[in-house]
Amino acid sequence: MAILVTGGAGYIGSHTCIELLNENYEIIIVDNFSNSKKESLERIRKITNKDFGFYEVDLLDQANLEKVFIENDIEAVIHFAGFKAVGESVQIPLSYYHNNITGTLILCELMAKYKVYNMVFSSSATVYGMSETVPISEDFPLGATNPYGKTKLMIEEILGDLVVSNPDWSIAILRYFNPIGAHKSGLIGEDPNGIPNNLMPYIAQVAVGKLKELTVFGNDYDTLDGTGIRDYIHVVDLALGHLKALQYILEHNGIDAYNLGTGDGYSVLQVVEEFEQASGVKIPFTIRSRRPGDIPVCYANPIKSKEKLNWTAKRGIREMCEDTWRWQQNNPNGYEEKKMHEIYCNYLEKVNMMKGRKSCAISYILTRKSS
Ligand code: UD1
Repeated sequence: MAILVTGGAGYIGSHTCIELLNENYEIIIVDNFSNSKKESLERIRKITNKDFGFYEVDLLDQANLEKVFIENDIEAVIHFAGFKAVGESVQIPLSYYHNNITGTLILCELMAKYKVYNMVFSSSATVYGMSETVPISEDFPLGATNPYGKTKLMIEEILGDLVVSNPDWSIAILRYFNPIGAHKSGLIGEDPNGIPNNLMPYIAQVAVGKLKELTVFGNDYDTLDGTGIRDYIHVVDLALGHLKALQYILEHNGIDAYNLGTGDGYSVLQVVEEFEQASGVKIPFTIRSRRPGDIPVCYANPIKSKEKLNWTAKRGIREMCEDTWRWQQNNPNGYEEKKMHEIYCNYLEKVNMMKGRKSCAISYILTRKSS
């Protein structure tokens, strides 16, 4: 029996696959590489020295997704696949609703057809919206403020209706706080497309020299130093939370939601300081106005996950920074070497434009030589 992991090539998915393989689960990964790289699969193999099934399939492609169910004996699904950028979701809401919700509907229909009733669903603390108090427990009021968060909330509700319709279903909804860090090997980690939106990848790219300085969004919050406070959780702890949730749903029916966070909050400036100490690199920053939609303080009450799933986060903020730094140093351009060439090409183009020369031929020769 195999565990199907949708979005298994992505940041959290790839770390979870490693922990599953380490525990000798047979896994099948489905990914369309819309926000991930093929190379991450090679790295999973390298770290675990184990192989797995893989299908390059979009969840919206029902016919090809069905083949995965026909060709494999699937016991449970860990469902990560989905678009996840808050800002982008405001720009292109229909893509988010279509991709995240329709993709999940197709997946659930196939699960029901092939009698695979076990699912661990990747949700987010964003479903708590503008929570007025902390720490946040699972029974707090829900209400997302952007299309991305709304897709998570709507899917949670859809999954709840499924369980009502058929008690064979067993579903764990995992609400992540702020996942950061990377695998100890330095071989896999977060590889955002373009300029990162989130704090830790931004800091890491400043540290490695790809970005000039960090912008701190607001220092006038009612917090210890005025900057926003979040519950950062090591991605390996998060991955291990999925294993515990999987074990739980394989033994219990019904649906429940669980916070995956540490229960500790750190401000932006505290994270900057921890990163500086972990890396030995100074992170220049400028304070600017608040980012629209941000809340001052957000951290979890993780007690339910401890009591029901027997899971607690063990890795602290320093380790999160050290592991992020190792990944970033080893892979300054993420998984794709090609990106280095692009950056170099762009740079040469700028230099040569200033000199009034045509640069393509030169940059081509130079980047070929450097490879
Ligand atoms: C964001 C998403 C959330 C998602 C999570 C994944 C938003 C509004 N929310 O959470 O839905 O689940 O990422 O990790 O985008 N900050 C800076 N400078 C930066 C970037 C961030 O000062 O360049 C600050 C923010 O204002 C915030 C903290 O750092 O106080 C964390 O921000 P971020 O990493 O983007 O995460 P969230 O906004 O908490």
